[in-house]
Amino acid sequence: MSTDLDSSSAIPFTKRLDGKVAIITGGASGIGECTARLFIKHGAKVLIADIQDELGHFVCTELGSRENISYVHCDVTCESDVQNVVELAVSKFGKLDIMFNNAGIPGITNHPSGTSNYDTETFKRVMDVNVFGAFLGAKYASKVMIPAKKGCILFTSSVASVTFGGTSAAYAASKTAVVGMTKNLCVELGQYGIRVNCISPFGVASPMLSQCMHNMEKKKIEEVVSSSANLKGEVVEAEDIAEAALYLGSDESKYVSGLNLVVDGGYSLTNPTFSRLMKSKFS
Ligand SMILES: NC(=O)c1ccc[n+]([C@@H]2O[C@H](COP(=O)([O-])OP(=O)(O)OC[C@H]3O[C@@H](n4cnc5c(N)ncnc54)[C@H](O)[C@@H]3O)[C@@H](O)[C@H]2O)c1
Repeated sequence: MSTDLDSSSAIPFTKRLDGKVAIITGGASGIGECTARLFIKHGAKVLIADIQDELGHFVCTELGSRENISYVHCDVTCESDVQNVVELAVSKFGKLDIMFNNAGIPGITNHPSGTSNYDTETFKRVMDVNVFGAFLGAKYASKVMIPAKKGCILFTSSVASVTFGGTSAAYAASKTAVVGMTKNLCVELGQYGIRVNCISPFGVASPMLSQCMHNMEKKKIEEVVSSSANLKGEVVEAEDIAEAALYLGSDESKYVSGLNLVVDGGYSLTNPTFSRLMKSKFS
């Protein structure tokens, strides 16, 4: 870690990822983009891997110089693309410390009415991107982390891995699978000094959530999410998930592995059905 003086406040600023090399899949947008921003601020070198090429290049231009950030086209469901991005990290930056398997899709269909009408191909596509894509990231990252005897593999799961019924069976199955993969890899790779964790966000007003909510605008999404949230007085933002990734990617979490870090303000612990029913009947 290195410490600089923050020019605006003269408070010492510690770069918590100084010298580390990270790949962020789905890094062109939303949570991934915000994490790339925070990782760069903390001294990491970052490869953004995504399929939105124009946006990915734009984010890189905004965030830094060619020396510390690059964009590479990578469809996480394509094995050679994933292999390529890991090899590129090693050839360009000399190593890979953090593999953040964050790319994901919600799997919305034109049929709102649930599993009986859910499009089968969409189910397969959700599993392909959210589970197989994450597996490929872990596979190729571990190939370079095992000989190095260290590394950090991170996944983005979802609050849908701990509370059920608010999303499609496809999405819930995919994100629950990610948690299972996290825990299994934690046990498998611990002997090589590799830590494996995942983060489960709730309700971040990203382009993906907007798409799920009929293209609702950010402010409105935040209002809806906040009114359904357990923790009041705060709005969940992509920065909150990026901070969780920063912690799990940094040496501050050097003994943390196998964790599903749920960032939901306690939402998944609530079940207001009974109290609502009581209120409606007796008040
Ligand atoms: N936003 C939320 O509330 C929320 C909640 C829980 C979990 N998540 C998860 O967070 C992750 C990031 O989502 P987000 O909300 O930032 O959405 P987003 O749409 O802003 O970002 C997702 C990114 O993944 C990329 N992507 C999609 N398919 C890909 C593929 N095949 N190969 C490479 N990249 C691909 C997209 O191009 C996009 O840049 C996803 O895994 C999502 O399931 C989001």
